[in-house]
Amino acid sequence: MTVPPSLLTTLPGHHYTSPELFAREQERIFESLWFCAARSTELAAPGAFRTVPVGRESVLLTRNGAGEPRAFLNVCRHRGARLRTEESGLAGRTLRCPYHSWSYDLDGRLVAAPNLARMPDIDRTAYGLRAVALREWLGYLWVCLADEPPPFEEQVPGAAAERLGDAGAIGRYGAEGLGLGRRVRYEVNANWKLIVENFMECYHCATIHPELVSVLPEFVRGRAAQSSVGHGAVFADGARGFTVDGGEGFGRLPGLADEQDRRYYAITVRPQVFINLVPDHVIVHRMFPAAPDRTVVDCDWLYAPEVIASGADLSRSVELFHRVNVQDFAACERTQPGMGSRAYRAGGVLVPSEHHIGAFHSWVTGLLAETPETPEAAGTPETAGTGGGAA
Ligand code: FES
Ligand code: FE
Repeated sequence: MTVPPSLLTTLPGHHYTSPELFAREQERIFESLWFCAARSTELAAPGAFRTVPVGRESVLLTRNGAGEPRAFLNVCRHRGARLRTEESGLAGRTLRCPYHSWSYDLDGRLVAAPNLARMPDIDRTAYGLRAVALREWLGYLWVCLADEPPPFEEQVPGAAAERLGDAGAIGRYGAEGLGLGRRVRYEVNANWKLIVENFMECYHCATIHPELVSVLPEFVRGRAAQSSVGHGAVFADGARGFTVDGGEGFGRLPGLADEQDRRYYAITVRPQVFINLVPDHVIVHRMFPAAPDRTVVDCDWLYAPEVIASGADLSRSVELFHRVNVQDFAACERTQPGMGSRAYRAGGVLVPSEHHIGAFHSWVTGLLAETPETPEAAGTPETAGTGGGAA
């Protein structure tokens, strides 16, 4: 019988530093797949808007007069000015470009422009804002820049169903009806893949997460929460809740099944979302890769609306995973400089409890290697796995 090797190789170091490979990832991954852009409740009323970086593009999210969410490329069809540069705001009934005042309604139609009446041949529909595919799930707005988006059900809810081994499990947390208790933005000086890899393994948990392992003692052994289908890490006997000191949390979310109580589940929804499920709240991380060595991460803590309305003190609840985040992102930042070292030219290694990260690496390199579909990409040399080309 052949003994499987203990160590598998990682991606080579340049996959974490190369601007060319990063541009290709932006194109093939973040601009091609479904991307979690905003919490729906952030667009509270018609005309409320948010701008969100998606790959190399800026997406303008808004709500039309009927209250339906809409997403457009944040580019004026006249001469290309950004319609909005603020992260959020209230637009009123139209989106007016600040450059020459072309104005679009909240469904993206061109409705006014200086001297428009004297240019009767302009097709106002053809010169409307470029719409972006949009779906809503877990109370978030997910967008896709691809001309033909991949099946949403497969990429997004399918990832949670596959991880939990039960398509209905995540729905029982009722995330779409939860309120935003806290949001923290982390500016992480590390490549986005280091953050994904870190989230996928727990070999580091005993070393850097003392508070987490005291609530979830099985993590001491380095077994990742995501290592087997349907597995949820069980709370320590002495832990009364998922809090920084193991003290009482809040009431169990009403839809949960008994087997979901006192357990922690972690889900990666590729390419940029991590979801943590615990009995009394849901934590959602969204990554916004900004440069080969820089990633912005927004982390939301979601609670039952009555918990938020009661004015309850969320701090001990939020503090547990905030500390985990700070510890994890410090580890990623400690790792990033090594990616450019000659010592890491051929990469590093994965121990058995990290072997499942290999599937993530294959997924990334597979997407980078796919035959380009756009004319722009068609002219570029093959780079996947070699970093030898330019996108
Ligand atoms: Fe927007 Fe001219 S660029 S109106
Ligand atoms: Fe961690």
